[in-house]
Amino acid sequence: MEHLIIEGGNKLKGTLKIKGAKNSVLPIMAASLLNGSGKDVILENIPDLIDMHVMRKILQSLGITVHYVNGNLRIAPGNIRNYAVPDQLMREMRSSIFLMGPLLAKLGKVKISYPGGCSIGHRPIDLHLKGLESMGAKFWEEKGFIFASATQLTGAEIHLDYPSVGATENLMMAAALANGKTTINNVAKEPEIVDLQNFLNAMGAEVRGAGTETLKIEGVERLEDCTYRVIPDRIVAGTYMIAAAITGGEVILTEVIPAHLEGIIAKLREAGIFVESTEDTVKIACGNLKAVKTLRTSPYPGFPTDLQSQMMVLLSLARGESMIEESVFEARFKHVVELKKMNASIMVEGCRAHIKGIEKLRGAEVEITDLRAGAALVLAGLAAEGTTIVAGVKHIDRGYEKIEKELQLLGANIIRGPRENLLYFC
Ligand code: EPZ
Repeated sequence: MEHLIIEGGNKLKGTLKIKGAKNSVLPIMAASLLNGSGKDVILENIPDLIDMHVMRKILQSLGITVHYVNGNLRIAPGNIRNYAVPDQLMREMRSSIFLMGPLLAKLGKVKISYPGGCSIGHRPIDLHLKGLESMGAKFWEEKGFIFASATQLTGAEIHLDYPSVGATENLMMAAALANGKTTINNVAKEPEIVDLQNFLNAMGAEVRGAGTETLKIEGVERLEDCTYRVIPDRIVAGTYMIAAAITGGEVILTEVIPAHLEGIIAKLREAGIFVESTEDTVKIACGNLKAVKTLRTSPYPGFPTDLQSQMMVLLSLARGESMIEESVFEARFKHVVELKKMNASIMVEGCRAHIKGIEKLRGAEVEITDLRAGAALVLAGLAAEGTTIVAGVKHIDRGYEKIEKELQLLGANIIRGPRENLLYFC
């Protein structure tokens, strides 16, 4: 198993380009199944991530040719030969659930296994199923698999009980080829929802309202090929912003969309960090780090749950007491146990974590439980006194491209390899 070994204390300095957003790429790759022309879809600004390659393997298992060259994806038209998403690949990545909408719209049938919960919560899919049912899909279970069929999806009036990102995306994709008009209320408003709308419309769909509470989709007969550049990853950008802040460095991120970073920028400023943005860059410099009384995660444009663990590391070094309330997922504090090994003073009570700022984190051997908790432990290692050894790096590679290379470029003392080799470098 690969590890990262980090010698803490270096201030990060320099400039870093932010690449395409994982949480845009995955639904847009699924949506490319809807292409009914004889020509390829080209996706640009695609990061080299494990999750992207898992989605690539899933599309290939359905009979679609997918090539990844120089940061672009070339996806052949949908001559789909198979409607069953391989069980192993479903288990590797929950977001394969995004294939239900496109496969029902394109083929009228789909077979998937229940996407397991993961270490951040149970993560049910009831809102996906309820919405697709209202469009005419029929669901049944056999031996732990979910089967669905729909001779022709029809437009419907849907109200989501919760603004679920995945359910919004699945239903948007299904409605794009449905018969008639679909209205979806209480939808997610994340930038990745707007990106998916823009991609579908580039293929000839008629989707309106992404970024607001209500989506209106007029089903069309056929969608075409297109070339599309996905938006930059706001969560990766936020992670490196916090890395700069926690090491007391000065970093400029380029090719970002500052408007997507407002939640994190506001909280960093509240914590005393200097942040300045231009049209497509953001600059972070250290300040007098101070506690943030309350940080509550919530659906966009609130503070993103995917930056909660990284922010917790920063606040563990801030003068005073902070409180983080995780309102999106019910079990997203698994990183606290690991941070305590590094001397952090954090007490969890239900969905709230109470953080007492300390002088210094101490290097330790820690284990990653999920993607964003892993990123948080790397940030902790960058700031800690001494050596931190991080196990389970594969989790991080799901959402960060070559994290150790990017951090080395900014001056961090971090290497990757099997544990026995790494200790040689100590
Ligand atoms: C997306 O997950 C992201 N993943 C997550 O990022 C992100 O944390 C999450 O949205 C919230 O912003 C991708 O886009 C691939 P949800 P998703 O449906 O769609 C409940 C990362 O680190 N819910 O908005 O699964 C659910 O249990 C990942 O990049 C239902 O109850 O999130 C959760 O409590 C982690 N029923 C809440 O809604 C449903 O049918 C938010 O889930 C669906 C969701």
